Amino acid sequence: MKFDTPATTNPIDRMTLVGQPLDRIDGRLKTTGKAAYAYEHQDAVRRHAYGYVLGAAIAKGRITAMDLAAARAAPGVLAVVTAANAGPLDKGEMNTAPLLGGPQVDHYHQAIALVVAESFEQARDAALAIRVDYARAEGAYDLAAARDTAEKVKQSASATGDFERAFAAAPVTLEATYTTPDQSHAMMEPHASIAAWDGDALVVWTSNQMIAWGAGELAKTLRMPREKVRLISPFIGGGFGGKLFLRADALLAALGARAAGRPVKVALQRPLVANNTTHRPATIQRIRLGAGQDGRITAIGHESWSGDQKGGQPETAVDQTRLLYAGANRLTQLRLAVLDLPEGNAMRAPGEAPGLMALEIAMDEMAEKLGLDPVEFRILNDTQVDPNDPKRPFSQRQLVECLRLGAERFGWRQRNPRPGQARDGRWLTGLGVAAAFRNNLVMKSGARIRLNSRGGITVETDMTDIGTGSYTIIAQTAAEMMGVGMDQVTVRLGDSSFPASAGSGGQWGANSATAGVYAACVKLREAVAQALGFNSADAVFEGGEIRAGNRRVALGQAAGAAELVVEDSIEFGDLDKRYQQSTFGAHFVEVAVDSATGEARIRRMLAVCAAGRILNPKTARSQVIGAMTMGVGGALMEELAVDRRHGFFVNHDLAGYEVPVHADIPHQEVIFLDETDPVSSPMKAKGVGELGLCGVAAAIANAVHNATGVRLRDYPITLDKYLDRLPELA
Ligand code: MOS
Repeated sequence: MKFDTPATTNPIDRMTLVGQPLDRIDGRLKTTGKAAYAYEHQDAVRRHAYGYVLGAAIAKGRITAMDLAAARAAPGVLAVVTAANAGPLDKGEMNTAPLLGGPQVDHYHQAIALVVAESFEQARDAALAIRVDYARAEGAYDLAAARDTAEKVKQSASATGDFERAFAAAPVTLEATYTTPDQSHAMMEPHASIAAWDGDALVVWTSNQMIAWGAGELAKTLRMPREKVRLISPFIGGGFGGKLFLRADALLAALGARAAGRPVKVALQRPLVANNTTHRPATIQRIRLGAGQDGRITAIGHESWSGDQKGGQPETAVDQTRLLYAGANRLTQLRLAVLDLPEGNAMRAPGEAPGLMALEIAMDEMAEKLGLDPVEFRILNDTQVDPNDPKRPFSQRQLVECLRLGAERFGWRQRNPRPGQARDGRWLTGLGVAAAFRNNLVMKSGARIRLNSRGGITVETDMTDIGTGSYTIIAQTAAEMMGVGMDQVTVRLGDSSFPASAGSGGQWGANSATAGVYAACVKLREAVAQALGFNSADAVFEGGEIRAGNRRVALGQAAGAAELVVEDSIEFGDLDKRYQQSTFGAHFVEVAVDSATGEARIRRMLAVCAAGRILNPKTARSQVIGAMTMGVGGALMEELAVDRRHGFFVNHDLAGYEVPVHADIPHQEVIFLDETDPVSSPMKAKGVGELGLCGVAAAIANAVHNATGVRLRDYPITLDKYLDRLPELA
């Protein structure tokens, strides 16, 4: 199905199931431990062995010698795989550095060997007996030092009007530099895979957000026909962008299984995850704002510097600044430095999340300079069209409504605009706000649907559920479309033998994947109508039946003795070019800072989101409160500490990389505005999983400023950065 004109009324609009806060259909499996994650599919294979990954101990250089003799002779060892004996491997298209390194080493903890043994302990013991000699090369590991050599990224440059002139002429200006650190996805389930060969065919149970990409990359890397590789990933313990691409666990499990002649399971050891896999790159962001005394922005400039491996990508931290606020004169620019740190790549809301960490502090600073309330300053600078192209409207844009409703619900009026004034005993308290913005992306997505003779519906698509609720919203979509109950629908996900879906990334999954299921259901409705002699245009699907006039037939009759099987996909035309499709929100936070110790505690959080039709308010709320929690981490805790001499992230485990725990998180409230976006898809939905993160950290930083009077521009906001600047307690 081609989607190239705005959606009209369709069966989803009934919203008897879609739009309802239904429990997760996989909830029982999850809570009883029966949902099998990648490392737990051992029952599917016979006599599997264990793989242990050896990571490079240098960041850049060459392996000059590798002595495998002791490892090979160690008890239980079945094989030792290295680049020297793995056979020819092609380079995939999605990883900057090879997943199996050697003799060249591209980054610290790049995998350089896999030891396969009968037990995990034997594999680990043998891996530690491998002796590796390195010739270390000089590398660049310091973004600040590499800033001057960073190259302009052409695609990112955008200019409207004459920014420099308008900025110079503006009566009120702000120029400030903000920094965000490298961050790790730190998902609960590490990257893990079990690989099994059957002749020249390979099956890999893995943990991956994008099944079709992963299967394609693995086939390409192993120089195999695509159809000989099958990826299975039914449950995923978090991804956040760290599992968008094929990683070393899957490739090494496949190579290890081939070398050992046995199925092999590999979980990337937790201490390897931060340096072996991708991370969100650090940024240095320079923001310049110019406004009239009336508070209207006349000049808005945002430049960002980030680093990556040679051939890598910038963190697109300026994108939201093109679209979020009005202003006739605009400038954005990214600059990319070559660094020899581990590979940078997407992490939840890549671009907007770190971009808004800076921009939304700048907006708070500018409001203060103008003597305006920060909510009102944002509302004053709202735009209903793309500010770079006034002929291009937003499909929906309720930023103002989010801000106004949030301010009212949160009690924003209680905020003292003079910072450092509000006290609660020894605590300095403050309120902060930030706008949330994330673009809505759409992706082709397919599904196959089977109708059986009892009227049961089975949906098959390679869509993944990374903890988001995909199973549930897909079942809701199919049940709504076919007029059956939720108990009549079975959803099978995460298998590359199913039709390729949008996958889980960029908050496009919910809208795109359910739209693919919608398309397949439209086809099934036509097939049912035709089989049973109905005109599909005026047939109604309800209560497990198809009916028209006073004729009604049970759906299962259309399947006959076998099954009725259809397949279709949604393909998106140019509606995302003709309309700017974005999601909006507002975050409100109350913090308390201990006036003696500087300890910062979050007291309350509220998110108001406008993101098209909310397919399931319960799973969507869970996405947003999870994202708000992640935002607390980004504001107050998360930082991969860079060793600038040796080029690696030092705190590469969950003891050293701090993320929030329950005790850090107060009551959180989420409000979804009533919205349907007919331009986004027939589902009229958009994504919320990334929107919920965008702006959170800045709202916290602004609240800390309101509480203490200290303006912090370098994340994370830890007390060492402000302890000596707290106001004296009167
Ligand atoms: Mo998302 S960072 O595209 O998983």
